[in-house]
Amino acid sequence: SIPVDNVQALASKDLKDIPIRYIRPEIESEEVLTDESLQIPVIDISKLAVAGKPGYDDELDKLHLACKNWGFFQLINHGITESIDAMKKVTEEFFKLPLEEKINCAQIPSSIEGYGQAFVVSEDQKLDWGDMLFILPLPIPQRNMRFWPQTPPSFRTTLDEYSKALQGVSMELFKLMSINLRIKPATLSNMYENCTQGIRMNYYPPCYEADKVLGLAPHSDATGITLLVQINEVQGLQIKKNSKWVPIKPIPGSIIVNIGDVMEIMSNGEYTSIEHRAMVNFERERISIAAFHSPGVKAMIGPLMELVKDKTPKYKTIDSEDYVRLVVNSKLDGKSLIDHMRI
Ligand code: SIN
Ligand code: FE2
Repeated sequence: SIPVDNVQALASKDLKDIPIRYIRPEIESEEVLTDESLQIPVIDISKLAVAGKPGYDDELDKLHLACKNWGFFQLINHGITESIDAMKKVTEEFFKLPLEEKINCAQIPSSIEGYGQAFVVSEDQKLDWGDMLFILPLPIPQRNMRFWPQTPPSFRTTLDEYSKALQGVSMELFKLMSINLRIKPATLSNMYENCTQGIRMNYYPPCYEADKVLGLAPHSDATGITLLVQINEVQGLQIKKNSKWVPIKPIPGSIIVNIGDVMEIMSNGEYTSIEHRAMVNFERERISIAAFHSPGVKAMIGPLMELVKDKTPKYKTIDSEDYVRLVVNSKLDGKSLIDHMRI
């Protein structure tokens, strides 16, 4: 991995020109849907707390269709507002610190955690207009505290609490997805016991050429499911639908959930992992927090046995270590991870 400039520091320099490595000529020709009526489904998870209650069946169907047809949805009435608000506050405070302080948590070559920029593998690779702090809070025994900020003072306890709250919501979603996929309710949550959780805090500074750069290049998440929140109302997330980019309008306080590659593979393609990207704003910074949930390190990655009993598996089955290797290699050869896994 090749170290690159800190974007927040770069953006504060009053640049005359945005360095060419951030400029993406291809964005101009790609169609962005401006029709705001096309939005991802909204799932009210409070309606799914008790089976059989009025509204339960409809909401469960809605969740299934969201996972199948969109791979993205917004979750409301999730009951963890306090944890989210606290996490947003410490994240904002962390990014406000001077660079000298933030680099106390800087990335190191032997790890994927820390404060820095996305994985850069070649000198001519285009760069994202954003910085990030990536931490693996779960499994707890593998925590590496050197990457956990000590300023603001409540950062660590807040992240610990947030990690638990989000794991809880993910488990709830896995249970509901199991019901929808007609597999034993525990199958997915068992897969995810001792889950690996990664939390990525993204900072996208404003850019006066915001229409020519990307905060985060198009990708699908290599993980199981992702729970995303954003700090202010500045829009940026776009998802690919029928070859067009659809801007997502977050409902304040909601969690945006998306299906990752692992979930697509485990569901044998019934659920879809959707390509998405993050745009940058001309005048305002944008901060988002993405939490990735993947099966524990001992899990096999492949279509769930219960789902392929009398069907052909559409994806290979490999162990977690090989899967991680594949994630890295697919970045190197530019081919999508899902294409490598397809049979
Ligand atoms: C992500 O894809 O992980 C983050 C997208 C965003 O910042 O909205
Ligand atoms: Fe993502």
